[in-house]
Amino acid sequence: MNPADPLSDFSAFQPLLDRPIEDKLRDFQREQRLKHLICAAQLKPDLLTRLGRLADMIRRMARERESNLALRQLLSHKRAMLYFTQPSTRTFLSFMAACQILGITCNEVRDPKTSSEIKRESHMDSIRMFSSYFDVIIMRSPIANFAECCAYMMNRQESQEMRSVPTINAGSGSDEHPTQALLDFYTIQRSFSFDAEGTPAESRLKTLRQSYPELQSGPAGKTYLFCGDIGRGRTVRSLATVLAQYSSQRMIFVSPDHAVLGLDPVLRSRLVSAGVSVHEFNSLDAKLNGHSILSQTDCLYMTRIQREHNSAADSKEMAELDLSPFQLTQQRVGQLKEFSPIMHPFPRDSVVQELPTQIDSDPRVMYFRQARNGMWARAALLVHLLDASEGLFMAYRRFFRD
Ligand code: NCD
Repeated sequence: MNPADPLSDFSAFQPLLDRPIEDKLRDFQREQRLKHLICAAQLKPDLLTRLGRLADMIRRMARERESNLALRQLLSHKRAMLYFTQPSTRTFLSFMAACQILGITCNEVRDPKTSSEIKRESHMDSIRMFSSYFDVIIMRSPIANFAECCAYMMNRQESQEMRSVPTINAGSGSDEHPTQALLDFYTIQRSFSFDAEGTPAESRLKTLRQSYPELQSGPAGKTYLFCGDIGRGRTVRSLATVLAQYSSQRMIFVSPDHAVLGLDPVLRSRLVSAGVSVHEFNSLDAKLNGHSILSQTDCLYMTRIQREHNSAADSKEMAELDLSPFQLTQQRVGQLKEFSPIMHPFPRDSVVQELPTQIDSDPRVMYFRQARNGMWARAALLVHLLDASEGLFMAYRRFFRD
């Protein structure tokens, strides 16, 4: 929250915001189903498996005209508000495409100057107004906790028997990005699933992975390497939280030696208490147990330095930093295992070039596939939140036997 900004006065919700995460989760849940998606800790293994299955069904149905039409009827009676007051192309378009696949009508506010916020309407009033017109609110905001406060406001309305709709956090401040974690996880699950059908490139990698007998299927028992802006990368925070639920994980965090870019001690202790073996380094060339960290990596997650969060002092200090140890050069790609997926939430920084375009044709590159997976994973989330899973199963069975 920005206390200097009266438009975002969340003080009424402060006692709820101050609770431990496990207490909060109950507020975002409805029996067996999510009520809102606010933080990555809600993405429990059972739910991730269910959403992955829905996403696979949706992608299969979307391929043929007849089944695609059935998909488009599934939620054609619903409307979504995309309230994105922070720059976004991928997440915005991916949610819009997900809505279109399911027949949901979308409307958008991208610039608060075009809304009544210019007339000093509070952010909370704007959201409450949207809930009168729409059936789901998907929001991205630079204000931390905004989506969480909206979920509390919806719950309060529900308890007063007033209209309440699901809220989806599509990125808030530098703290959480649960739907990116969902699609990243779905990509990892597909990468390490040895029986799922896939594209020819995916099948080739699948065959390759089978020649590593020690490699288990699924996300457990892997070494994940996260590189870049570890401190402020909300995608890293959310994905690491989700992956930590699976056993025998090793996580290596590589970031420049600067106070705001390194692993947040709160996240570190959360990961360690979940049983993750955590290692931190200041270069992709570092060694662990005598071997290069890249050669031990099962899955690489690159990120850009998030300059938009810099203070004036940060910008000055960061101008002095040598960022070459955080660039994935071809020589470094050469050290990775033959099957190791190379991921990035995008956008990549075309000046720093943490991911030079020369590596785009490497078969391990996942970032474009990741974006496409995001569309299916977000459609699956909408089906779940809008209680249409049963309808989807029935529609699917009309076209496919398995
Ligand atoms: C990320 C974000 O906005 O947090 N991008 C995304 O949602 N695909 C990462 C970033 O901006 O660097």
